[in-house]
Amino acid sequence: MKFKILTLFPEIFPGPLSYSISGKAIKRKLFKIETINIRDFSKTKSKTVDDKPFGGGAGMIIKPDVLQDSLEFAKENSFKKKKLIFLTPSGKRLNSKLIHEFIKHEELVIICGRYEGIDNRFIEFNKIEEISVGDYVLSGGEIAAIILIDACVRLIPEVLGNRNSLNSESFCNDLLEYPQYTKPREWNGLEVPDVLLKGNHKEISKWRLKKSIIKTKNMRPDLYEDYVKKNKEGK
Ligand code: ADE
Repeated sequence: MKFKILTLFPEIFPGPLSYSISGKAIKRKLFKIETINIRDFSKTKSKTVDDKPFGGGAGMIIKPDVLQDSLEFAKENSFKKKKLIFLTPSGKRLNSKLIHEFIKHEELVIICGRYEGIDNRFIEFNKIEEISVGDYVLSGGEIAAIILIDACVRLIPEVLGNRNSLNSESFCNDLLEYPQYTKPREWNGLEVPDVLLKGNHKEISKWRLKKSIIKTKNMRPDLYEDYVKKNKEGK
């Protein structure tokens, strides 16, 4: 899988992606990151990429012609099965289902905004999907891109050594993950739940599912509602 990132700050990448699971995956060539500096496509001497918004207001807007030239460059030597994504707080909120959709593509072209935003015609013209990583505003799309790439990469077959960990982690089946414990059995007066020490795997699975349901109901009533609905339909 390949990620092409259009950004004004290419030096931010790979950043945290060069560590741990994703770092090993880059070294093993399981995915690739390429950055394209939007500023390289400015036609002015001073390398300007933005201008004031029509209609007034604070901040500067990145110009559509500069963005288009950088996108055309990104499309050269591109995979056929690719998707264009613009990271913005006003996009569709990212979730596990969207990540599973994204990894079906050979290439994701990710556009990172800065300043007040980008000219909307660029999004319309290129039919770009707008994605947000959460209901808060970051200083730009670069950190959001790192979140998105990390979440995609761990779903690439071979990246995670133990595939079972994907089947139990949060958001699998609309549930959050159950609580986990390790040694020592007793710590600061707190005991590991008895059922986990007895080796009865059927009982352990039942207990974990129950804990997942309780946790989801408390932490994420929205997810819990989906879980209840789906499980009723399934019966
Ligand atoms: N850029 C700024 N804030 C963002 C967010 N919440 N998600 C995606 N991109 C962003």
